[in-house]
Amino acid sequence: MTLRYKLACIICTLPGFLAAQNPVRESTGFYQFLSDDPNQKPFFNDRPGTIAKNGMVATAHPDASKVGVEILKAGGNAVDAAVAVQFALAVVHPSAGNLGGGGFLVLRDKTGKSYSIDFREKAPAKGHADMYLDKDGNVIPNSSILGRLASGVPGSVAGMAEAHAKHGKLPWKQLLQPAIDLAEKGVVQTEREARGLNAVKKDISELNPGTKYFINPTGKDWAAGDLLVQKDLGKVLRRIQKKGHDGFYKGKTARRLVKDINRNKEGIISKKDLADYKAQWREPITENYKEYKVITMAPPSSGGVALLQLMRLTEQHPLRKWGWHSDSTIQVMIEAERRVYADRAKFLGDPDFVKVPVETLISKDYLSKRWNDFNWDKATDSKNISGGVFPGYESLETTHFSIVDKEGNAVSLTTTLNGGYGSRVVIKGGGFFMNNEMDDFSVKAGAPNMYGLIGNKANAIAPGKRMLSSMTPTIIEKEGKLLMVVGTPGGSTIITSVYQTILNVLEHGMTMQQSVNALKFHHQWLPDKTTFEANAFSEGAIRKLQDKGYVLEQQRNTIGRMDCILVLPDGSLEGGSDPRGDDTSIGY
Ligand code: GLY
Repeated sequence: MTLRYKLACIICTLPGFLAAQNPVRESTGFYQFLSDDPNQKPFFNDRPGTIAKNGMVATAHPDASKVGVEILKAGGNAVDAAVAVQFALAVVHPSAGNLGGGGFLVLRDKTGKSYSIDFREKAPAKGHADMYLDKDGNVIPNSSILGRLASGVPGSVAGMAEAHAKHGKLPWKQLLQPAIDLAEKGVVQTEREARGLNAVKKDISELNPGTKYFINPTGKDWAAGDLLVQKDLGKVLRRIQKKGHDGFYKGKTARRLVKDINRNKEGIISKKDLADYKAQWREPITENYKEYKVITMAPPSSGGVALLQLMRLTEQHPLRKWGWHSDSTIQVMIEAERRVYADRAKFLGDPDFVKVPVETLISKDYLSKRWNDFNWDKATDSKNISGGVFPGYESLETTHFSIVDKEGNAVSLTTTLNGGYGSRVVIKGGGFFMNNEMDDFSVKAGAPNMYGLIGNKANAIAPGKRMLSSMTPTIIEKEGKLLMVVGTPGGSTIITSVYQTILNVLEHGMTMQQSVNALKFHHQWLPDKTTFEANAFSEGAIRKLQDKGYVLEQQRNTIGRMDCILVLPDGSLEGGSDPRGDDTSIGY
């Protein structure tokens, strides 16, 4: 490395480093950014982290983060704040925050006990394996993506009621009030939120005739600064405030949901589907990685299993010595991702319906065999890595938040409608979007893919079954103490973004915010290519990897929208929220 580039590297690390007020650097060491390429950058930008002593809330929207921190200040714990943030996001961030979707919550309480709630959507009772196929067995385009048939039975309200009943401290009513206020008084649109609504205007008006939901009353497109008032959503939230779980799954809201979804026999969710829905407590996956403990989501999310597999496959390699995004580091990470995503497609599904061999998949023995065909000189061909069919479409629209309270309770929660604004159906009289989560099932199970591999039966549709997810809400502890809370949206890129963000801190010594800012890449077995954010790879690394047969594609879009928290050695908290979105950490 020439002196010029050494200096450039030190300078480009300084702002994040100074903003983090030093303790992170002392605790984790200085990360290696060894690039001879002036165009390569470690960070998307140099946003500084947020440091606070008593509590931290990192979410996708400043108004939701404010809601969370006010609940903490009022004496609420991390679960109380999570419930309030989930409902607030349904109002301020309607592309992914939701009442009509689902998600996963991982909790590590102040005593070190961990829990998780699966409030993933379920296939309605009338759902079946070929419901999106025509009479010739071909997928009917868009049928699992747009409109009333695309929705699973929502889980978010049940998940929040369950979390609050077991771990909440403040009254339920108090946790709903901020979301009600935002819905009734209105939310000032950010530039990004306005742009999002304008982009789906046509779908919303076509799918919801005779309603005015999400149409700007001025008749113009939405612009930053406009006020979005959601009166019907406010009424639904008031019913939930009064009656809890039943305020959504029974009574007026349920009747309206069923009536709208079954309009012209378009959808299949019944009153009974709603009345029967239950969120499920699940044992989180808790496994060691070096001196750390990883607490993450079990199936029906594939995220936790895949994350552990990735971390263990790379554990044996000296990533820190090789340096961040050196060609060796990238190669090993790509090869791990290729193998893990092939496993994901073959083995993962709803554990209430299929046996998922979690223990085996994350065992060191199995993983060391999985590495047998790794070759430094040549990219492995994904055709030679066995696995099922990778479900084609996975949306990038989901949302994640992380919360730590003053007692050290930590919540990592990822929630989604699947696609941005879900199925684009807004429940008439309810004013909330429904999910298009049915598309996360393998809609054409058992069919061979273009390489002749047999399709993914583990994730085939069945009544009452939960569709496979990539959501990876994760908490890391070190020596029995809380260290980090991590997560992101991003469909299939969720797992690899969480993986990189964790390694950036644990292996490369970045601060929380640097790790979030750090440029990212992604490989998912099929298609057999690695996508990367602009400037994430040096010309030299690209050349070396291409010579070995790697297909590398710089993408225009960004990868990940992380909201994470790191506990610093003095016990204060560093919030790292992604500059790729409106994401904001607020502490106190
Ligand atoms: N719908 C995105 C996921 O669950 O991974």
